[in-house]
Amino acid sequence: MGTHRRAGASAAGMLLMEMAVLVGVLAVTCAGAIQRPDYDDTGAPEFLNQSWMASIPDSRPLSEVTIPGTHNTMAFYGGALTECQSWPLEQQLRAGVRFLDVRVRHAKGNLTIHHGVVYQRAHFGQVLEGVAGFLREHPSETVLMRLKEELSETGDIYGAVVEYVHRHAHWDLLWHSRLVPTVGQVRGKLIVLQDFAGPDLGMRYGSLDIADDWKVPTLLHLSKKWRSVHEHLSMADAGNRSHLFLTFASGAGIFAYPNAVAKRINPRLYKYLSNRAGPAKRFGIVTMDFPAAPLLKMIIDFN
Ligand SMILES: *[C@@H]1O[C@H](CO)[C@@H](O)[C@H](O)[C@H]1NC(C)=O
Ligand SMILES: *[C@@H]1O[C@H](CO)[C@@H](O)[C@H](O)[C@H]1NC(C)=O
Ligand SMILES: *[C@@H]1O[C@H](CO)[C@@H](O)[C@H](O)[C@H]1NC(C)=O
Repeated sequence: MGTHRRAGASAAGMLLMEMAVLVGVLAVTCAGAIQRPDYDDTGAPEFLNQSWMASIPDSRPLSEVTIPGTHNTMAFYGGALTECQSWPLEQQLRAGVRFLDVRVRHAKGNLTIHHGVVYQRAHFGQVLEGVAGFLREHPSETVLMRLKEELSETGDIYGAVVEYVHRHAHWDLLWHSRLVPTVGQVRGKLIVLQDFAGPDLGMRYGSLDIADDWKVPTLLHLSKKWRSVHEHLSMADAGNRSHLFLTFASGAGIFAYPNAVAKRINPRLYKYLSNRAGPAKRFGIVTMDFPAAPLLKMIIDFN
């Protein structure tokens, strides 16, 4: 009996050791940040383009501009299942990102940033201050922000959003119309793409032509995801130029984390776009997880 128990104990010890080694290997694998032309999960972009909109004529409708964006812009914490970006907001903006996707939890007038149940250690005021600060330094630029409620279900964030705008920025920072502006009309401004009920605060998110097939259950579903992306990009290229198009290249599921999907979709996007580089094209807003600076440049250069 005694021998048996000892053998059992040492087998358990071996298993523990093996697990410790495995965890060590996994930790090393996760810690190794990657910077490729299409995918970047390091802390900062390889290069910046802080005022690329300066070269776009004032008279051009915003719907004719091709714009890089980030999906779940502020999702930095919670592990691989919930993390979608690795560059802080200011770095994203400096790298050329002009579309932000922001999710707020509403509790007693407070708006905190969440991805699903995971608190992202920031509140909406910090996002507004970051955008306002960037636009003050770069008045030729425009930022679009999809804003929606997440985790809470009050269905009533309008009043809180207005209060945050007054407290952390200023009313004139916003484009106050449902209509698609020209670039000249919105330089230095934030366009809220309102994904919530209430009076008009900016443009209605629902008025855009959107492809957001974000459910990628496993990595075996990548081809279907990619089809949705390239079909919508070609629709944007051929479609009505007075409509804003928005394509999400991001996706995730329990067996396909955002970074795993981005590592496989971003290179296809990069190749698709590089095959079409040269003449100006309108692809609309192209939104990604973990984009890299050369991919952003590729998108910007279609203007
Ligand atoms: C920024 O983008 C503009 C517009 O595409 C381009 O002309 C310019 O060369 C870019 N600058 C940098 C530093 O990449
Ligand atoms: C709202 O935010 C303030 C400031 O961050 C904090 O002191 C307060 O406890 C929050 N209230 C709620 C209900 O979360
Ligand atoms: C494009 O859309 C606008 C606004 O919805 C509409 O007035 C116009 O007729 C459309 N143009 C074409 C060519 O379909």
